[in-house]
Amino acid sequence: MGFSTKAIHAAIEPDPTYGSIMTPIHLTSTYVQQELGKNKGYEYARVSNPTRTVLERQIAALEGGNEGLAFASGMAAISTLFALLKSGDHVVASHNVYGGVYRLGQSILTNFNLDFSFVDTTDLDTVRKSVRPNTRMIYIETPTNPTMEITHLAGVAAYAKKKKLISVVDNTFATPYLQNPLEFGIDVVVHSATKYLNGHSDMLGGLIVLNDKETSERLRFLQKSIGGIMSPFEAWMCLRGIKTLAVRMDRHNRNAVDIAEFLAKHRKVKKVNFPGLVSHPQHRLARKQMRGFGGMISFDLGSLDNAKSFLKRVRLCALAESLGGVETLISHPATMTHSFISPEQRKAIGITDGLVRLSVGIEDVEDIREDLKRALAAV
Ligand SMILES: Cc1ncc(COP(=O)(O)O)c(C=O)c1O
Repeated sequence: MGFSTKAIHAAIEPDPTYGSIMTPIHLTSTYVQQELGKNKGYEYARVSNPTRTVLERQIAALEGGNEGLAFASGMAAISTLFALLKSGDHVVASHNVYGGVYRLGQSILTNFNLDFSFVDTTDLDTVRKSVRPNTRMIYIETPTNPTMEITHLAGVAAYAKKKKLISVVDNTFATPYLQNPLEFGIDVVVHSATKYLNGHSDMLGGLIVLNDKETSERLRFLQKSIGGIMSPFEAWMCLRGIKTLAVRMDRHNRNAVDIAEFLAKHRKVKKVNFPGLVSHPQHRLARKQMRGFGGMISFDLGSLDNAKSFLKRVRLCALAESLGGVETLISHPATMTHSFISPEQRKAIGITDGLVRLSVGIEDVEDIREDLKRALAAV
């Protein structure tokens, strides 16, 4: 089965009660049991829900894993994942992760005696040198948010296996349509389903996919115990969004290549970060491990003042956090998604004050280009 067919049919059967082709939204907190110890596979909705189950099976099929788990947000999924660890454990993570993950690692999980090293995971030597005797997990984003760095999936996976560490990839930017980390030997994939998977900027969700039975049983236990589960309505919204993922991603890909090339030639733009450009330092690696470059671009306008006047003048591109929806969104990482990171650390990882992040939508590309052109003229 090809990807688009799977996105529409994998794990999805017409409802046996009335034959409705769409998965029903099972709005219930509990399930009536036939007798003590006898039920239809569901007992209490925090533990499991039939709508959520379909989504969990579907994302597992799309990522090529055995088990899927759905959460209330990407951060709920990621927090549950870190609950696999114990006090005294250490995590090596990409220095360029989503700001919320950095905040969780640096200011919350430290209270539970978990230690994080945020390092440049594009360099495998740096990853190796950062691993300590108490390291238990390597957590990467590729491409990273917002500087679009690419980490070598097979290299990290092989090293993690050798050292018996859990390797985790946040696949939010690429989606399973463009990249399947499990195929490269990565242990766990995590998603903010809020972004491309849903694709319409109208829900929050998080997903985890993996193969190892012992770890997935542990995660199921943590999911029901911590309780940050995805609601049945959100699961239905996500299922609905995923059905058009392939067609949306094809358009995001095409539009982003066009916009990245336009920005790269523009004299007001100092630098463009997009793995689809041959000038990107890991362009060849991106070609190898991705089936397209996605819809995310960041670019540097040289100063905070330039970024401010540009952002004030965009019309079609909406100034907003988040990404992956059908509409083009534009943001300023230093003051928005990554404001928690200190100015020194931001500078060290390439998040300059002039950096602007663009989530290229699926509108007519000429309209996006015109909007950017007009706003750039005022810089
Ligand atoms: C790459 C990435 N991972 C995780 C998250 C967190 O997801 P959520 O906002 O659904 O909690 C985000 C949010 O922007 C993100 O961009």
